[in-house]
Amino acid sequence: MMVPPFIRTFKYIFMCLFVTFLLACSISLFLIPPSGKEDCRCPSGQTLTPTFDNSHLLGVVVPFRDRFEELLEFAPHIVKFLTAQKINHKIFIINQVDQYRFNRASLINVGFKLAVSAGCDYIAMHDVDLLPLNTNLSYHYPTTTLCHIASPEYHPRYHYNSFVGGILIIKKEDFIRVNGMSNKYWGWGLEDDEFFVRLKEAGLNVSRPTNLTTGIENTFRHIHDRVWRKRDMAKCFNQKEVTRRRDRLTGLRDVAYTIRSKHQLSVDSSTVTIVNTELRCNRTVTPWCLCSAEKKKETSNRQGKGR
Ligand SMILES: *[C@@H]1O[C@H](CO)[C@@H](O)[C@H](O)[C@H]1NC(C)=O
Ligand SMILES: *[C@@H]1O[C@H](CO)[C@@H](O)[C@H](O)[C@H]1NC(C)=O
Ligand SMILES: *[C@@H]1O[C@H](CO)[C@@H](O)[C@H](O)[C@H]1NC(C)=O
Ligand SMILES: *[C@@H]1O[C@H](CO)[C@@H](O)[C@H](O)[C@H]1NC(C)=O
Repeated sequence: MMVPPFIRTFKYIFMCLFVTFLLACSISLFLIPPSGKEDCRCPSGQTLTPTFDNSHLLGVVVPFRDRFEELLEFAPHIVKFLTAQKINHKIFIINQVDQYRFNRASLINVGFKLAVSAGCDYIAMHDVDLLPLNTNLSYHYPTTTLCHIASPEYHPRYHYNSFVGGILIIKKEDFIRVNGMSNKYWGWGLEDDEFFVRLKEAGLNVSRPTNLTTGIENTFRHIHDRVWRKRDMAKCFNQKEVTRRRDRLTGLRDVAYTIRSKHQLSVDSSTVTIVNTELRCNRTVTPWCLCSAEKKKETSNRQGKGR
């Protein structure tokens, strides 16, 4: 029997789609984080603890650059939210002031060090544009494992299972154990996926809030305008290859930076510490800390300054 060629083509296309589907399913099954989900939720009906627990101090670490409008909303909101849960906390806005591309992971490493020297025993790695709304999202000291507050089940935008970005609560000893985050991620994206692999390799389970009555629309408020706040998605040199690999070398121990200044900023009744931070980049190891457009700018600035 003759099968018309276009039907054969369709057959192969469908087979391809089917195989892709099976692959995608098995990958997502494999990546489902281990159990222990109940940790991230306040015990039923008991959103508030009766008193402040002075045995713990939370450091809220916010990697930051050029987001002052978001900060004006974030600071009062998070202070109110944490105070309602009676959580002792300090807020560190790690403001990147060097000329390199934004490096969220290195800024978190810096913020962790500051938080620990200020006495914090756990941190919340926190995006400035993601505000928790559901009062059942608990920022308490995790009872067993670390806690991914911005669960892909409730995040307004990211729904893949290995997602650990947005808001992640981690104990001091666990962050040290995985050597913090990689310092190789200049520009937007992938640093949290590499961090997920660090956690997995260290056998650290990721807990997440479950059974919330809210959904992706109203668990968080995401103050992010994709047109107005363009992401730096450029990839230059061999950035693409390197940033897809697990980085076993860099992290908390070797993050290179200088703190230029610190400022207490009050927004309404909240106070945060702005930490102006200059990251250093080894251009031999990560030449992509500047891509071409910025390189030109840098060169012309230098020429503009004269000698
Ligand atoms: C969440 O809800 C499911 C189904 O109602 C229930 O089986 C499970 O025990 C709940 N989990 C928690 C942590 O309350
Ligand atoms: C918080 O959790 C309690 C207990 O499970 C539940 O009764 C309540 O509806 C939850 N509130 C929200 C806003 O999800
Ligand atoms: C992670 O979860 C697994 C399975 O529930 C458990 O066997 C293991 O002890 C947990 N690891 C840690 C570090 O809590
Ligand atoms: C940059 O890294 C290379 C390779 O690891 C090293 O040889 C060099 O000394 C580093 N440069 C600086 C300025 O740290």
